Amino acid sequence: MAKVAMADLQVVFQLKYFMGDSLPVLAIVRDARHHSHMNDPQPAPRNGARLLFARTFLRNPVMLGSVIPSSRFLIKGVLEPIDWARARVIVEYGPGVGTITGEILNRMRPDAKLIIIEMNGELVRFLRDTLNDPRLAVIDGSAADVRKILAEQGFEGADYIISGIPLGSMPLAVRGHIVRETKEALASGGAFIVYQFTSRVLPELQGVFEVVKRGREWLNVLPAHLFFCAAGPSGQNGSGPG
Ligand SMILES: C[S@@+](CC[C@H](N)C(=O)[O-])C[C@H]1O[C@@H](n2cnc3c(N)ncnc32)[C@H](O)[C@@H]1O
Repeated sequence: MAKVAMADLQVVFQLKYFMGDSLPVLAIVRDARHHSHMNDPQPAPRNGARLLFARTFLRNPVMLGSVIPSSRFLIKGVLEPIDWARARVIVEYGPGVGTITGEILNRMRPDAKLIIIEMNGELVRFLRDTLNDPRLAVIDGSAADVRKILAEQGFEGADYIISGIPLGSMPLAVRGHIVRETKEALASGGAFIVYQFTSRVLPELQGVFEVVKRGREWLNVLPAHLFFCAAGPSGQNGSGPG
């Protein structure tokens, strides 16, 4: 009950921000619920992606965790710790409509590989339709299977794993499983970068990773917690937020 109420509040708050205060929020919610993807009057790609994201959130609030893609400030904060020269294999959990994915592709090496894992089928189709890059693999699956997915793609480990999935809203056992699997999926010296709207995942991160650095990004709806996790002090040559 409480989760649904919180999700509803988040929808109203984020849609007000997203669409502007002058618009009636209930009309926006009703419109977003009944909007048909097939009837989109050729919206600009950016707005089309945002609307798809919002509509997907209304159907799966707990799985999505947010009604709006990450802000450019949050994207900058998430990608800042990455050493692009050494990043050969990057994994992203929960790319949504590809807001962070596009920035990763812009910055990563020509010979690097980006594997994005998304468990919402509609978003997977959108990502496959809109992102065309030979360095990218779009996987329809769960972050819980990261090791199997990496092996299927021909890699032993990832240099960076970036997570936007709502770990804090997941059952404790699932959250713990994903954090442990992620550590196992990292190559030597690899790092796990997490952004979340709560710090609920912190105990699991601290229980599994030797290094956990924290940061905040306030210029996002909602303000985000950032966690930079590595296997040991040498994991990222002492860099990362905080
Ligand atoms: C808050 S959205 C993040 C969207 C995007 N990365 C951004 O920054 O705008 C979370 C995404 O994680 C996906 N997701 C949730 N649980 C997942 C899981 N176990 N494995 C993969 N994706 C998951 C959701 O479908 C959703 O697209």
